[in-house]
Amino acid sequence: MRHAFRFAHFSDPHLPLLPGWPVRLRNLAGKRLLGFLSWRRKRHKVHQPDVLAALLADVAAHAPDHITVTGDLINIALPDEFDRARTWLERLGPPDRVSVVPGNHDATVAVPWDIGLGQWQPWMTGDESAPQSASSFPFVRVRGPVAFIGISTAVPSPPLLAIGTVGARQAARLEEVLHDLARQDVFRVVLMHHPPMRVHGSERKALTDRQRFQEVLARAGAELVLHGHHHRDHVGYLPGLGGAVIPVIGVPSASAAPVGRAQPARWIQFTVERQDAGCWRLAVLVRGYETGGFRTEARFAIGYGGRDDVS
Ligand SMILES: [Fe+2]
Repeated sequence: MRHAFRFAHFSDPHLPLLPGWPVRLRNLAGKRLLGFLSWRRKRHKVHQPDVLAALLADVAAHAPDHITVTGDLINIALPDEFDRARTWLERLGPPDRVSVVPGNHDATVAVPWDIGLGQWQPWMTGDESAPQSASSFPFVRVRGPVAFIGISTAVPSPPLLAIGTVGARQAARLEEVLHDLARQDVFRVVLMHHPPMRVHGSERKALTDRQRFQEVLARAGAELVLHGHHHRDHVGYLPGLGGAVIPVIGVPSASAAPVGRAQPARWIQFTVERQDAGCWRLAVLVRGYETGGFRTEARFAIGYGGRDDVS
């Protein structure tokens, strides 16, 4: 019997900055202050705990084998936020069943690893080595027929910028990893916060070295790239190895209510099934928020290895 492996993807939960939190003025210099004001002015209306709770309940009801979260768990990188997000991750699932990569909001300012992103390390740990610092990405986790490759594009950037960068060292390591995994005949899923191409927004929110990243994918291949960042849905393609195309899929924020121009929350269930002769079939189930809960918005399938049966 064929084994189908199911995993969930959501992004940008932006756990709320709680009113009454001990947000100390000395912590709000520079970019954090801008982020804090933005939260107070409008973002708190969009990112609602009830929506996120409904999304998590819907994910749990589908009982995926694994959960992936592509960054922006928090807002302005306060130490208290990292603490609270760790507690949230503990409730989300055990570290071996949940994979996380950081986003630009998680790196609003540089925070020492042990009181910052290092708090989430169990969910960002590869099978063979633990990221000990921000420079230890990518991590690789093989679960069933799927390999999750977690990239960090999170770099502190000047005020008003939300850029991301993969970096030469990480890109070189990614290329090695993708080649190694290709020899293991696994379905390679790259997790990253910023989309690897220009999709929405301006250059001030873009991945600065997307060209280098795309060249790595073209030389080494991958089966799927998942991202967040723009809080908008996105389906695109990048060229892979030998004429293959790599689907690139992004989702809106996991906590977004339909307020103003915000696109409401969405998550996606992917089902990976190995077909004959090393071919894959990827079934995609899109679940979107509407008042009262989540419903199926789309369902389609992608074939790999010569078959292309979108239905
Ligand atoms: Fe975000």
